[in-house]
Amino acid sequence: MLHAVDMPAPVPAPGEVLVRVHAAGVNFFETLVRQGRYAEAPVLPMVPGVEVAGVVEALGPGADAGLLGARVAVPLFAAGRGAGGYAQYVAVDAAFAFRLPGRLGFEDAVALLVQGLTASLLLRHSPPAGKTVLVMAAGGGVGSLLVQLARRAGAGAVIAAASGADKLALARRLGAHVGIDYSEGGWPRQAGAGADIVYDTVGGTLTQAALDALAPGGELVFAALGRFALSPARLEAMLMDNQSLKGFALLPLLDAATLAESLASLFALAASGELEVVRGGSFALEDAAQAHHALESRRTSGKVVLVP
Ligand SMILES: NC(=O)c1ccc[n+]([C@@H]2O[C@H](COP(=O)([O-])OP(=O)(O)OC[C@H]3O[C@@H](n4cnc5c(N)ncnc54)[C@H](OP(=O)(O)O)[C@@H]3O)[C@@H](O)[C@H]2O)c1
Repeated sequence: MLHAVDMPAPVPAPGEVLVRVHAAGVNFFETLVRQGRYAEAPVLPMVPGVEVAGVVEALGPGADAGLLGARVAVPLFAAGRGAGGYAQYVAVDAAFAFRLPGRLGFEDAVALLVQGLTASLLLRHSPPAGKTVLVMAAGGGVGSLLVQLARRAGAGAVIAAASGADKLALARRLGAHVGIDYSEGGWPRQAGAGADIVYDTVGGTLTQAALDALAPGGELVFAALGRFALSPARLEAMLMDNQSLKGFALLPLLDAATLAESLASLFALAASGELEVVRGGSFALEDAAQAHHALESRRTSGKVVLVP
């Protein structure tokens, strides 16, 4: 159960900054954590949330004085923190407070943390240049960015798979060449000759269908951690088709240089308007449960945020 409680604001430790949160990102995996369906079970009670954007209001001893008053985005997860973001204040190691360009708003900035980095690093992990790629949940937070970044990275064709006409229309507007509604039966046949790469961020029974849309010799990049459901027989059939299966986990790929470079690139693209951040809804902090409900009932497109 998610509900709001009053807690004292954290005091920044040496080397930390205190950030007044203007936007806290909500991610789909947090709905799984809340339901006890994620790989790692949290110790309760907990404050969910692994990413925020806001203004530095105070400094701990030794923290860079130049950061006072700065507009920053904070990927708490990259600082080894799996919680604490759904809050009015966050104290964090100053090395994880990334300055925002003037034209990038707080709500857009949080979309570029877990979701932007996931989209960006998925493409680095399995580059799409010249290939036909299939993006699952293409209207979602990760998916809407992945469609755009795959086009920028030179994908030959982008097939968007999602549920419902609105999400597919969104994906087409963002640059997908083809849209397939995977809530309708028989959708793999609509993928034509098949995809060279499937970016599977959904998992479960939809992986099987996605695999039916994968060309011989193609690659399934599996990012829906904890929701892998292919049978040994289906894996054997992949081998018979010379197909490969590749895992994707964001955190182990995020060294300090990759984090800084990737965020700088994403922030610049979004600030210049070359990358569109799709707004999926803003909720008050005390309405976090409603935000979760909207995400898990598949009603949202793009990024869902909490605004304290
Ligand atoms: N491996 C990693 O390191 C990593 C990192 C970040 C995120 N991820 C994964 O990437 C995926 C996207 O994350 P996100 O935060 O951007 O979420 P999101 O795409 O904004 O929302 C999740 C989407 O999943 C689709 N979906 C399919 N089956 C569903 C079901 N049974 N219940 C609810 N939704 C369902 C829905 O889109 P449709 O209605 O179009 O089906 C829904 O909108 C998540 O699965 C997340 O776990 C993985």
